[in-house]
Amino acid sequence: MDLIIRRAVLAHAHPAGYPTVDIGIEAGLITAVEPHLATAAREEVDAEGALVSAPFVDAHFHMDATLSYGLPRVNASGTLLEGIALWGELKPHLTQEALVERALQYCDWAVARGLLAMRSHVDVCDARLLAVEALLEVKRRVAPYLDLQLVAFPQDGVLRSPGAFDNLKRAIAMGVDVVGGIPHFERTMAEGAESVRLLCEFAAEKGLRVDMHCDESDDPLSRHIETLAAQTQRLGMHGRVAGSHLTSMHSMDNYYVSKLIPLMRESGVAAIANPLINITLQGRADTYPKRRGMTRVPELMAAGVSVAFGHDCVMDPWYSFGSGDMLEVAHMGLHVAQMTGTDASRACFDAVTVNAAAILGLEGYGVAPGCAANLVVLDARDPIEAIRLRAARLAVVSRGRVVSRQPAQRAALSLEGRPESVDFKLHR
Ligand code: FE2
Repeated sequence: MDLIIRRAVLAHAHPAGYPTVDIGIEAGLITAVEPHLATAAREEVDAEGALVSAPFVDAHFHMDATLSYGLPRVNASGTLLEGIALWGELKPHLTQEALVERALQYCDWAVARGLLAMRSHVDVCDARLLAVEALLEVKRRVAPYLDLQLVAFPQDGVLRSPGAFDNLKRAIAMGVDVVGGIPHFERTMAEGAESVRLLCEFAAEKGLRVDMHCDESDDPLSRHIETLAAQTQRLGMHGRVAGSHLTSMHSMDNYYVSKLIPLMRESGVAAIANPLINITLQGRADTYPKRRGMTRVPELMAAGVSVAFGHDCVMDPWYSFGSGDMLEVAHMGLHVAQMTGTDASRACFDAVTVNAAAILGLEGYGVAPGCAANLVVLDARDPIEAIRLRAARLAVVSRGRVVSRQPAQRAALSLEGRPESVDFKLHR
């Protein structure tokens, strides 16, 4: 074997109930998950009872804007609208080389965080399609170690922005994977609904997935998710469509939501919340009480809708923070949605791993024989501890190879009569 990870605890218990397992890897695939592998391997990692998971997956990101913090200036108000204006100021100054360099740097951070698959939107409201070319180049360059899926995203509105639909079609022809949209940014509700119809029909004709920025506002009457679900059902795109953000659902009338959520489940539309961004950008016009603005995550999950969390932004015109850490995303999502119960907390771990992988349609994702050998060894004993500590990624395995290592979190103490170190775990 090429690699064995020994004494691993799995996020979802092995069907036979083994407390720890050895994971055998050969030629980029997981070939064995057993209580003890007697064979030797070229390289071994002893997890010593630490959690070993399939890698983190970010279901919603903007790689064309990432790490542009401060270019050409900082977002002083921190609002969504100043962020969009700032992106507009930055766009004419973008160069392909700088964009590729920033994206590659972010992918380095991602790998170190055990984040090995991402869906990134790429703005197509620029006739040069410079960002599309740059991110297609990045996708090729990172392919040996990271799965990057691209969404053709008409940031300024596919109907509102002249030429945007043609640009989007060109981007798809160039190799972009998924059809995006932003119906709430069109000039009227009717045009928003029309944009959903046009884009879904185009995606259905091409056999592509759809992921739209949808109802990213505090407007309880912004209801494009209803149209998106209805079009998904009409066109038979069950399981291939996602609504991103859906923040208006936070403010909607409860009776209306009791009709909407079953429609979403029946049509197989997935929901992608972006906790760090939703909690900072929504509710800005409120005095007190201030709305959280994140979509109804536990209710959607309870109804059987597939829900993932995305990072959305890292050090860009909209958000000055972040470091590619999906455990930070899960931590925020858990708090915002008050998902502090045991099952709910574990569901937040799933929202940045298995659920996101299913929404992206990743093949061979998981920790079982036959799956791709992509794994992260976390300095935690279970998913809840991993979220609490934003646990160190002791080792990251991509395509069967250890690609990143990080030491465990420890602090050395110098206190009379107290332990010499702490690792922030409960030891009883
Ligand atoms: Fe976004």
